[in-house]
Amino acid sequence: FMPPKKAGQGQSALARDADGLELTKDKYLATHKPGSRDLVQGLNGDATYLIVKENGELESYGLNAVCTHLGCVVPWNAANNKYICPCHGSQYDNTGKVVRGPAPLSLALTHVNVGEDGSIEITPWKETDFRTGQKPWWKT
Ligand code: FES
Repeated sequence: FMPPKKAGQGQSALARDADGLELTKDKYLATHKPGSRDLVQGLNGDATYLIVKENGELESYGLNAVCTHLGCVVPWNAANNKYICPCHGSQYDNTGKVVRGPAPLSLALTHVNVGEDGSIEITPWKETDFRTGQKPWWKT
């Protein structure tokens, strides 16, 4: 059962921490250094990476952490500047683009926006995948 949505509203989620508490940008950036990639609960509760850019601001996209091979959550490996799946060794570069199989596809993108109240909003990415120049393979 899917709850009805207003036409054109689309789905979105407020980023939540592991305890299910809503995050704010200020709170998040107070504990996350430039270059950090850390997991929050995003769309449909999926583990989603928020990225802090080198200038200390939040990146405008997030990455769904679910491996496109068989669905393990893929950890960020800072030493290698890649996401490396522990299950069967797939690798994704720092934008989530797949660079080594068996994963067939890049990590799914989401938009990340900061609301007027400072909340972190995660919304579906429906546009061209900037890493591949192709339409999203994921459900938008
Ligand atoms: Fe990630 Fe198989 S589930 S490589």
